[in-house]
Amino acid sequence: MSQLQLVNAQLVNEGRIFAADVLIRGDRIERIGPGAAPRGATVIDLTGKHLLPGLIDDQVHCREPGLTHKATLATESLAALCGGVTSFLDMPNTQPPTVDRAALAAKRRIAAASCHVNYGFYLGATNGNLEEIKQVGPTDACGIKVFMGASTGNMLVDDPATLEGIFAGARLPVATHCEYSPLIRENEQRYRERYGEAVPIAAHAEIRSAEACYRSSSLAVSLAKRHGTRLHVLHLTTARELDLFERGPIEQKRITAEVCAHHLWFDESSYATLGAKIKCNPAIKTMADRAALRAAVVDDRIDVIATDHAPHTLEEKARSYFEAPSGLPLVQHCLPLLLEQHAQGLYSLPKIVEKAAHNPALLFGIVERGFIREGYFADLVAVDLRSATRVDAAQVRYKCGWSPFEGLSFRGAVALTLLNGVPVYRDGQPVEGPRQARPLEFRPR
Ligand code: DOR
Repeated sequence: MSQLQLVNAQLVNEGRIFAADVLIRGDRIERIGPGAAPRGATVIDLTGKHLLPGLIDDQVHCREPGLTHKATLATESLAALCGGVTSFLDMPNTQPPTVDRAALAAKRRIAAASCHVNYGFYLGATNGNLEEIKQVGPTDACGIKVFMGASTGNMLVDDPATLEGIFAGARLPVATHCEYSPLIRENEQRYRERYGEAVPIAAHAEIRSAEACYRSSSLAVSLAKRHGTRLHVLHLTTARELDLFERGPIEQKRITAEVCAHHLWFDESSYATLGAKIKCNPAIKTMADRAALRAAVVDDRIDVIATDHAPHTLEEKARSYFEAPSGLPLVQHCLPLLLEQHAQGLYSLPKIVEKAAHNPALLFGIVERGFIREGYFADLVAVDLRSATRVDAAQVRYKCGWSPFEGLSFRGAVALTLLNGVPVYRDGQPVEGPRQARPLEFRPR
């Protein structure tokens, strides 16, 4: 069995930063702490670097099956591991949509043959698949995705009886996209009357308004409280919604909240330069909303940082307001972005690790990942805070070929990614060799 000793790193794990060596045997962490490298072990010197658990991104859209002109599991997972993400959970708004166990099995087959990071899949809810939702368990999926607001892919669940049934009957965590569609349609109509088809992109934050978010997320929270559901509200974007969530450690919560990298980075002033490239649902909102989201990461009303990585082609993004699809590619740049925000003094390194690795593992019951612990899988990322990540078209690995961060330089860079004990990204390049990805195992609380 292969042996690898990582020496001289600063570990960032479970609230602490400390110097330790890590011995890896096969795919597992065998020892954390001092000790000579065993004979024959490969030694990697991480002097000056920090070693984190690999990130677990609980919201990505890799577009397979059916939308492979935008992205594939192979292309986006390779981008993920270059960005220090070692596991992800992929969304069901594919073609066909992933709304039954046969579709989940088909996705697992594609991933087994092509994915470069560990993977899990959500079952998508519809107004018509409640019986399937009640049957689906942890060997099939990581959770149930409910579009309580319409977005890319036409998977809106708005039938009140179905929503009650999902919140009462799901055996897995229920993850919701919360935006109240009737209000959004009214807002769209108002803007259409004023501008015709030439609605300015900056109106997106008014059309997909804070009120639309609150109406839907407050409904989700009240349904979850009534039924005792394990609810995870995805991609919060407003200060007002934060009042719906409690502070405190994730272990004590049945209702949790996620924020995404782009909502922590951009605010509505960015529409002027980036236009439809940053059109996404829920919309990027005001500077005050962004400040509140950042504060809620620190005070633990927000439990998870993810990406909602949602690639579309540049040709699609060049269309008019109503025709340009929502979503932006992010999974490769989330960790560098968070390291930049660390350099700006927004979050400590342990806080980043808590929100982007520990908490997704705890929330979804991901078995033996998300922490640097003896006996756990060796999914690890070494970062160099003295180095920078310069984002340009050549650096971007997404199939769609662009990033909203082009031209920026983040302070901090991924130096090495290990997946299941094997170096898979090093010196700015994916390492040649067999893929190391595995299906994630789930044991939800
Ligand atoms: O902006 C978004 N894009 N929000 C979603 O909910 C879906 C996603 C996509 O699939 O493009």
